[in-house]
Amino acid sequence: MSAQLKNKNSKLTTPAVPGRWRKEVERILITDAQLARRVKILAREIETDFRGREMVVVSLLSGTVMFLADLIRHLNLPLRLDFIGVSSYGAGTESGELVFTKELRLDVRGRDVLLVDDILDTGKTLSRVLPKIRALQPRRLKTCVLLDKPARRVEKIRADYVGFAIPDLFVIGYGLDFAERYRNLPFVGVLHPQVYREPGKS
Ligand code: IMP
Ligand code: MG
Repeated sequence: MSAQLKNKNSKLTTPAVPGRWRKEVERILITDAQLARRVKILAREIETDFRGREMVVVSLLSGTVMFLADLIRHLNLPLRLDFIGVSSYGAGTESGELVFTKELRLDVRGRDVLLVDDILDTGKTLSRVLPKIRALQPRRLKTCVLLDKPARRVEKIRADYVGFAIPDLFVIGYGLDFAERYRNLPFVGVLHPQVYREPGKS
């Protein structure tokens, strides 16, 4: 289950964008404190569901870096960690053609696998990655995403664990990028539309 963002009154409670980022970040959508609280709860749910067996956490590069680090430090379970590299051509806000830049190295056959991604948007990424992992015959395969943008879905896909369902906005920070930038922001913010309208200036 995901946490719905209650944004109606958020202008009153959401902190201002730090001065350094004000030109590029329109507003903060999810604060670092909200992220921390939610990730702990997600970890508790996953821990309960995966208890009793060693799990393999498979994470998609690179957008999951911060989420993954925070999530697994709260998982009090034996686990092994591996990565799959996927990259979509095109530096804009639309996902382009998908290429695999790193393959899975751990053997997941007969294992309990948790696939972690940053955001479920059109669903094209997960609909390519999931069959690839399924073909390796894990005992169980569950998906966990920090963010879910259901409004943009084109593939029939849902995640088992969702941090936050968000509206149709292009977001950056806490691992998420625009043209490989802004992954280091400690919060999830809405990208200022002028950043992608004037790519030469970014
Ligand atoms: P999908 O294949 O359309 O579901 O998109 C998944 C991928 O697109 C994510 O793993 C992100 O890398 C990227 N993406 C989708 N929406 C956003 C966004 O709002 N901000 C940053 N990256 C995004
Ligand atoms: Mg990306």
